[in-house]
Amino acid sequence: MERSLTMELVRVTEAAALASARWMGRGKKEEADDAATTAMRNEFNSIPMQGTVVIGEGEMDEAPMLYIGEKLGTGHGPGVDVAVDPLEGTNIVAAGSWNALAVIAIADEGNLLHAPDMYMDKIAVGPEAVGKVDINASVTENLKAVAKAKNKDVCDVVATVLNRERHQHIIDEIRAAGARIKLINDGDVAAAINTAFENTGVDILFGIGGAPEGVIAAVALKCLGGELQGKLIPSNDEEIERCHKMGIEVNKVLKMEDLVKGDDCIFAATGVTDGELLKGVQFKGSHGTTQSVVMRAKTGTVRFIDGRHYLTRKPNLVL
Ligand code: FBP
Repeated sequence: MERSLTMELVRVTEAAALASARWMGRGKKEEADDAATTAMRNEFNSIPMQGTVVIGEGEMDEAPMLYIGEKLGTGHGPGVDVAVDPLEGTNIVAAGSWNALAVIAIADEGNLLHAPDMYMDKIAVGPEAVGKVDINASVTENLKAVAKAKNKDVCDVVATVLNRERHQHIIDEIRAAGARIKLINDGDVAAAINTAFENTGVDILFGIGGAPEGVIAAVALKCLGGELQGKLIPSNDEEIERCHKMGIEVNKVLKMEDLVKGDDCIFAATGVTDGELLKGVQFKGSHGTTQSVVMRAKTGTVRFIDGRHYLTRKPNLVL
């Protein structure tokens, strides 16, 4: 894969972030998502690649753009699988809350798991704890493993968990083990990535979220040398059937190589609202500012990019 694609992809996530940030705090998650999707789709036109959306905004008949199977890019360049989440955290933007991102992950054609739109149980950790956690082990065992790997006490470990009723048993067990919790209302992609950055103060992610988000986060963690394990959680017969069609047994533990094969993958994200890792978009009158991270697994290079964008020269972004 061309390394120049790395920088090209940041332009795409920046455009999506700028467009959706206009909707911050307005209580309109659909509009925020549409703005991000349209901006992202437009920006993809100029990227030199032959991309196919494998994780996107839905099936062809339900999503007008960035649908599964849609071809992206100029039609020249490398053939790649594309996973997009133009706005990861639609409720977050609607509420003006924390950690909404515009996100893209790409990998060589055929290398991303075509995760169906269903739930996935996940555990994610940064590089120090790779190979030490096990999604089938208890929460307490995993907390102890992370503490040992990071050379600290369990009471110093911080776990992130989506604040959902389905996670009450996880929350209870973390508290009983004496570790600390960061409950989040949405956005488990950012939460997974945060485990690989020391300065976020987050050590481990537990719990069930979207399967597509799981694959996207796995690409980021592959670039960062971290680990995500997942198990698909179908909630009805139709979803069980979809798992079978994909050749995935329902209780199978999906490891990094199942989620994203090989090491030729790139991840890019731009903050829409402020988070532990990235600042959100700010509008300053004539221009807007963005903060992005882009990384490539092959080299392990991680870049943080501050952008300044003159809005009048980006007509798509004006409301
Ligand atoms: P959206 O951006 O699609 O709203 O997803 C936000 C999110 O919180 C994800 O980060 C997470 O994986 C999923 O929703 C959790 O799903 P649910 O809200 O059904 O628990």
